[in-house]
Amino acid sequence: MNDSTARVRIFDTTLRDGEQSPGFTMSAAQKIRFAHALADLGVDVIEAGFPNSSPADFNAVKTIASEVRGASIAALARCHAGDIEACAAALQPAAAPRIHTFISTSPLHRQHKLNMSREQVIEHTIMGVSLARKYVDDVEFSAEDALRTEREFLVEVFNAAIEAGARTLNVPDTVGYTTPQEIRTLFEYLRANVKGADGVVFSAHCHNDLGLAVANSLAAIEGGARQVECTINGIGERAGNAALEELVMALRVRGGYYSAQTGIDTTRLLSTSRLLSRITGNQVQRNKAIVGANAFAHESGIHQHGMLKNRDTYEIMRPQDVGWDDSQLVLGRHSGRAAVASRLRHLGFVLDDAQLDQVIADAKALTQTQHTITDRDLQRLVEGEKFGP
Ligand code: KIV
Ligand code: ZN
Repeated sequence: MNDSTARVRIFDTTLRDGEQSPGFTMSAAQKIRFAHALADLGVDVIEAGFPNSSPADFNAVKTIASEVRGASIAALARCHAGDIEACAAALQPAAAPRIHTFISTSPLHRQHKLNMSREQVIEHTIMGVSLARKYVDDVEFSAEDALRTEREFLVEVFNAAIEAGARTLNVPDTVGYTTPQEIRTLFEYLRANVKGADGVVFSAHCHNDLGLAVANSLAAIEGGARQVECTINGIGERAGNAALEELVMALRVRGGYYSAQTGIDTTRLLSTSRLLSRITGNQVQRNKAIVGANAFAHESGIHQHGMLKNRDTYEIMRPQDVGWDDSQLVLGRHSGRAAVASRLRHLGFVLDDAQLDQVIADAKALTQTQHTITDRDLQRLVEGEKFGP
């Protein structure tokens, strides 16, 4: 990272926003194991849970706070004294504790969820942040449903949060409603209008209801966000949160465009994703960017031919950079002669043209009954073994 490159902090909320969604619940032991993996991955902040939501969550946060080092440990609290005190107690053993307190700010939430006036929302903000500051220096404040909040009111709330001692101001797109253009200009507006903006970190927290969470997070970075909240495999409420692996690799692959980088060890992305899948029992889809089984697999003959000549033809990053051994040239119905010949050479078979034609014809016949051709299949074809009864 050169001096002119800004650092974007990665705030991972897999264990809080991710874990609270249907099908992704984890035991305390699983959360602790995963928190260690997140620290090894190099995230800056691990949001470990919501301590006042249950004794189990309290205990999981407390154990993570005492065992995991190398990242700040955050815990979530509404702007309620009970929530904040539970966070303070659970985070007490942490080397770098952060209390993350939030309140809804949008008119819809003020009226239908909180039944509070604007003034009351500001009073709760001040109460929550100042109480959290009595326990820890590092306080993050979130304006829930910020993207559907009146901009001028959002500035008032953030001014109050800064004055009460917040260091990080988080701007959640709670319902995944925003667009890249809109969120970029919101961050620019907040940085220009919030008093004391230069002394705090602005953070983006994007949900994926329209499939835009990663694009919106990148746009927020363009607008000046220097912390992004995300989850491994994009798990989270409803359609999920911004996927950490996609966001980090977009910043890295397009480093010339985004002058901001993270401290993530990208070679651990695949193993961290797989650990989460094993723990929760949810596989990512084959075509998932970065970590899906097809992310570096090429079956079409034209693509395989290009890859054999120069990988850059169909690969924008190296599989090894994110933890794969290598890309896969999958032999299937769409594969071509060059790929079969290359795979055979790799297996130690040097065939003349006629022999190669025969193996290719046999391999194509085999794809009528099976999806892909393995190395073992190829070997059996060359050695003349019969398939089937
Ligand atoms: O989506 C959201 O608004 C949240 C906040 C609690 C940060 O998860
Ligand atoms: Zn969220």
